[in-house]
Amino acid sequence: MRKLSLKKGFLWSVMGCCLWGSLAQAQSTSQEQIVTQDAREIIWVTESEKATLLSEMRGFLEATQKILEGSLADDMEVIEEAARAVGIKMMKATPKTLHDKLPTGFTDKGPKAHMGFESIADEAAGMGDREVVLEHLAALQKTCNGCHAIYRLKVK
Ligand code: HEC
Repeated sequence: MRKLSLKKGFLWSVMGCCLWGSLAQAQSTSQEQIVTQDAREIIWVTESEKATLLSEMRGFLEATQKILEGSLADDMEVIEEAARAVGIKMMKATPKTLHDKLPTGFTDKGPKAHMGFESIADEAAGMGDREVVLEHLAALQKTCNGCHAIYRLKVK
């Protein structure tokens, strides 16, 4: 009898831990989802600099979408064209005055993203292995997330 209640006590404490653990987890995810304060560092830019940067960003998103579609269709031409457009070519097109305003954390990650696309284009033009293309893309998107977590733009 005593043995049984000990067992029961043990079971209850295990269940308690699980419940507590999942409640704590649920709370932390809901806190992550509802952000009420923007703690990202502000980069002050002009209206036209903001337009330039955001259009580059939309170009990035468009390219990632085409790369995914090209990978599903195993169409290396589509992938190469989409990735090249936002690779080194776009990086070189960024105006110098804007580049000089950006913090080093930003100017490190920006080129990394462009070079990531360039390597996808190279893979598509070379071996053409879509698994490798997707691996590059998955790694590249960590760079997108890494920068988005830190910076935001504001017009002065
Ligand atoms: C070097 C930093 C950096 C990198 C790398 C980066 N972004 Fe951004 N992105 C930003 C900033 C800053 C904004 C503006 C955020 C804000 O002001 O709230 C932005 C905004 C955007 C937007 C919104 C565009 C709009 O019109 O409002 C999209 C879409 C986007 N990024 C996609 C991407 C994708 C996809 C990648 C990776 C392939 C990427 N970004 C990589 C910094 C970066």
